[in-house]
Amino acid sequence: MKAVVIDRFGGPEVLRYSEVPKPVPNDEEVLVRNAYIGVGKPDFLVRSGKDTLLAGRFPNLVIGNECAGIIEAVGREAGEFRPGQKVVVNSGLGYGAYAEYIAVPKKFVTVLPEEYPLQSAPGFLNYLVAYALLNEAGRGTDGQSLYIRGAAGGIGTALIQTALLQGIDVIASASTDQKCEYIRTLGAQCVFNYNNEQQKDVILDHTGGRGVDLIYDQRAGVRFREQFDYLADFGMILLYNWLEGCPSLDQLDTVIEQANHASAIRFFSFHVYDHNPERLEKIRRICIERIVSGQLKPVLYDDLPLSEARRAHEQMDRGEVMGKLILHV
Ligand SMILES: NC(=O)c1ccc[n+]([C@@H]2O[C@H](COP(=O)([O-])OP(=O)(O)OC[C@H]3O[C@@H](n4cnc5c(N)ncnc54)[C@H](OP(=O)(O)O)[C@@H]3O)[C@@H](O)[C@H]2O)c1
Repeated sequence: MKAVVIDRFGGPEVLRYSEVPKPVPNDEEVLVRNAYIGVGKPDFLVRSGKDTLLAGRFPNLVIGNECAGIIEAVGREAGEFRPGQKVVVNSGLGYGAYAEYIAVPKKFVTVLPEEYPLQSAPGFLNYLVAYALLNEAGRGTDGQSLYIRGAAGGIGTALIQTALLQGIDVIASASTDQKCEYIRTLGAQCVFNYNNEQQKDVILDHTGGRGVDLIYDQRAGVRFREQFDYLADFGMILLYNWLEGCPSLDQLDTVIEQANHASAIRFFSFHVYDHNPERLEKIRRICIERIVSGQLKPVLYDDLPLSEARRAHEQMDRGEVMGKLILHV
């Protein structure tokens, strides 16, 4: 079958469209014929070597962890699935998706209803993460408002849509006016270019000096601490990545200094559901229902052939993606 593989870490140039053996599912696996494949930050982390866990699988490591298609075969212990079902795969293995076929443990496979648009399915995980960030990890604040910086991407789009659906005031920023314009089309109430305006001024102004309840931070780094300046009482900073470096211990100590504001910090990884399948299933059902009913509308940025995965990664590395970037087989 055709697949996109890497033999070493590096830039988009290490992605190689190649012929590899078609996988054979074991007893607990499901074999899926992919139609669409999601391109996202986790693929960047694997490709670039920021996540080195998979280096042992070189050469011919098929990258990618999210895809959607039709079940072709089912292992003996995966009897609840059947060939012909429409599914989305969010592979906790972290590899295998940039291919015509993927064989994965059944726990990573979600059956979709017939009316679910398959082309939108690779972005499904973003909605699961957004739901979890908002309704599970984000509990314990007054929950009136949230701020997300760099909000035009896949998670940002899903988080904005989910928050607006739930009546939460959304403050969102991005690095360019074009991305800000895109975020406005999603309906966010307060949008600004963080290169031109001070986050603290905009947020305090928009919230009447109260501050924002939830700050979704994917960067951390040296600017982590200043976020407490515009956090409401009982507010929480929720880290879902730390692209600019994990907060240092003295930065984390700030939460003690902030005791008179009852501030909180939480680190979140979706892997919390690896040992919580029932909880994950509840979220899956809610997100499927919201998408099928049209309450949430996934936004596609581009849909390129699998053979152009390199071009997709160049788009991602330039940080120009708004909504979800996918490949088709
Ligand atoms: N914790 C979890 O379980 C979990 C699950 C899934 C994803 N994630 C994380 O969620 C984040 C967003 O994922 P996504 O798929 O939505 O990503 P995305 O679409 O590629 O990007 C999101 C936004 O982040 C900003 N950005 C991109 N590269 C950056 C960099 N190197 N440094 C700083 N900012 C950068 C950009 O906004 P601006 O140009 O406007 O700044 C971009 O629009 C990623 O960091 C991903 O690893 C976490």
